[in-house]
Amino acid sequence: MSNRRVSAVVLAAGLGTRMKSDHPKVLHPVAGRPLLAHVLDAADAGGADPVVTVTGPEMAAVQDLAAPRPCAVQHERLGTAHAVAAARDALESHGGPGDDVLVLFGDTPLITPATLEAMLAARRGADDPAVVVLGFRPADPGRYGRLVTDAAGRLERIVEVHDATPEETTIELCNGGVMCVDGAVLFDLLDRVDNTNAKGEYYLTDLVALARGDGRACAVVEGDATELQGVDSRAGLAAAEAAMQDRLRAAAMAGGATLTAPETVFLARDTVLGRDTIVEPHVVFGPGVTVADGATVHAFSHLEGAHVESGAAVGPYARLRPGTRVERDARVGNFVETKKATIEAGAKVPHLTYAGDATVGEKANVGAGTITCNYDGFNKGTTRIGAGAFIGSNTALVAPVSVGDAAVVGAGSTITSDVPADALAVARGRQETREGGAARLRARKQAERDKE
Ligand code: UD1
Ligand code: MG
Repeated sequence: MSNRRVSAVVLAAGLGTRMKSDHPKVLHPVAGRPLLAHVLDAADAGGADPVVTVTGPEMAAVQDLAAPRPCAVQHERLGTAHAVAAARDALESHGGPGDDVLVLFGDTPLITPATLEAMLAARRGADDPAVVVLGFRPADPGRYGRLVTDAAGRLERIVEVHDATPEETTIELCNGGVMCVDGAVLFDLLDRVDNTNAKGEYYLTDLVALARGDGRACAVVEGDATELQGVDSRAGLAAAEAAMQDRLRAAAMAGGATLTAPETVFLARDTVLGRDTIVEPHVVFGPGVTVADGATVHAFSHLEGAHVESGAAVGPYARLRPGTRVERDARVGNFVETKKATIEAGAKVPHLTYAGDATVGEKANVGAGTITCNYDGFNKGTTRIGAGAFIGSNTALVAPVSVGDAAVVGAGSTITSDVPADALAVARGRQETREGGAARLRARKQAERDKE
């Protein structure tokens, strides 16, 4: 790219009333990340700096998300042009608007850097368009602004649906909302936008007619309707999630992961699946998961904040919580929950275990039903299981505690003090067996019944 300076303004002052939520709309997540974060990522990747987010008043949580990028506050919601104008001081104090100003909506999470780059490229067109508009042809043009072109197909103006004539509403090419504006004229154009229209708002879309009136060209880049779908409601949020999941699944498969039933696998925006990983049906990846080449995630598992190394296998029905590392060729099996746990190379935790704040050493074997008792109601404690150790089934390891390398713990033990390397520890009631005792018991009970 050239040495042009690109900035971006992301509009996020909307209350999102139709979400019926106590939280600002743009903080609702898609693929484990707030809507706004997806848009900010795209703006960053498109080369914009600064990226200014325009919030409403009292939206500290939105500002925290945007940080360290600057924010501006639009105190009254008077329209999209008014919202961009609210970013003026923030842009000026971060080096000015630059050559190209991208305007994005914070509730449109599917926009891609490639589309932004296409718009920036169009801004460099021979006729030096002052405004580049991202157009699209939705199945139902409904409430979208319509792009009015002249006989030669050049963009003349944008008409909002409430202000359109019946003929204008039949126009199929609509305004997707994203614009790229010449930074040298942006604020001059904005200063001239008025609110004499059906909604009494300052429309950003008026920039096109104003620029044309100044003798400048304007251009349209046609985009994909999927990328432009905005979120206004819970149903819209679910639709955006579905579209994002399709995209993430396709990318994972293109990268060499096998998804047996991709439509049942849910990925986070940052999920990393290596080559030749196999992900069976009905797996959910929360944020922060990496799966290295050649690992397997069996069906019905849920992973979050976890790393799975090459050759390792987890599930079916495994629950890996944040801070989990499953190292090379290790195995975390059925109905096992882990949290801040390292399962070292070749170790096996195959069934019905909770391993929290724990290390399971290389090639150790943890029997079914083993529980690390990591919380005593006041403090968390850690558990260390040494390399090659064997923990018998149904053992409670009361942390802080350690079991040394190659030690053996008998089944059903409650281990409260450290077990040295190579030791055998058994901590359970001793078994008492009385020969013939069951027969005597039955005879006594029968005699009592006969007396009644
Ligand atoms: C806008 C466009 C329309 C386009 C459509 C695409 C205008 C006038 N109309 O209409 O041509 O087809 O988007 O989705 O621009 N916002 C603020 N402050 C405001 C007003 C809006 O921050 O004062 C934010 C909203 O939170 C939202 C975005 O700007 O993220 C768009 O606003 P919205 O009211 O949804 O515009 P539309 O009527 O959909
Ligand atoms: Mg809208």
